[in-house]
Amino acid sequence: MSQIVYLNGDLVAREHAKISVLDRGFLFADGVYEVIPVYNSVPFRLQEHLDRLQSSLSQLGIANPHSNIEWKNIIRTVIERNGGGNISLYMHITRGVSSIRDHLIDDESACTVVLMCNPLNVSQQPIKCSTATLMSDIRWQHCDIKSVALLGNILLRNEAEQRGHDEAILHRDETITEGSSTNVFMVKHREIYTPRQNNFILGGITRDVIIELAEHTGLKVHQQDISIKNLLNADEVWISSSTREISPVTRIDDKIIANGEIGPVAKVLHKEFQSFKKQLCR
Ligand code: PDD
Repeated sequence: MSQIVYLNGDLVAREHAKISVLDRGFLFADGVYEVIPVYNSVPFRLQEHLDRLQSSLSQLGIANPHSNIEWKNIIRTVIERNGGGNISLYMHITRGVSSIRDHLIDDESACTVVLMCNPLNVSQQPIKCSTATLMSDIRWQHCDIKSVALLGNILLRNEAEQRGHDEAILHRDETITEGSSTNVFMVKHREIYTPRQNNFILGGITRDVIIELAEHTGLKVHQQDISIKNLLNADEVWISSSTREISPVTRIDDKIIANGEIGPVAKVLHKEFQSFKKQLCR
């Protein structure tokens, strides 16, 4: 089936979805995005994704072009028109098209809205492990905004790939922030640690689900600073995101974590996560 893209109210074949060269998203990365996992045609944690979208838009001073009900209808239509099933739904909202290229914001411009679908690999059975490399967090000071300005993230991710790793785990000075497109967790003595939510990390929707499931299972979760030293000496480490779910990190650079195996806490939470998904998307 050919891909159908939503562009400013129209549903068009992907090859016909075109934007202006004066779009501020194209010129300045002046926009925000969301990636929503869709399981069995049901968007996962949709309200939470829409809330985070609202927060990102507000921080950039962009008026939300749609109400929640409108978004939900648009999303349902895009999923249906793309054949449903398991999808990674991409939403992209920019400040729109200016009359000339100018750093100054033209309040008159209407947002550009794009929604499109990517395949979602949900065969997380068996659980998919990762290796990671530590890299200095070279990004800006507003990583809590899900901005389309991802140059830092993509340079870090690609450098990690060149070093032979699946993800870059980032740090500012000695403190871990997050991955280039994931959040980071570690376990010590069966207690879970993850960096607290501030402007240096994106508040991941998967991160929140994992914290909820862990606490529900009776596991203690600490949201606090993690030093590089503590991360490297952890019993378990994993990364999380909408597309990777929970991925145990078995090696960070030369340091083997959890004997290179999937740790027991990651195993439990992965199982809980799979049944939580099934319940919601039945
Ligand atoms: N990335 N941190 C960063 C920098 C991210 O880009 C992401 C997600 C996360 C995890 O957030 P969530 O659990 O809501 O997916 C954390 C998406 C998947 C992406 O850019 O494709």
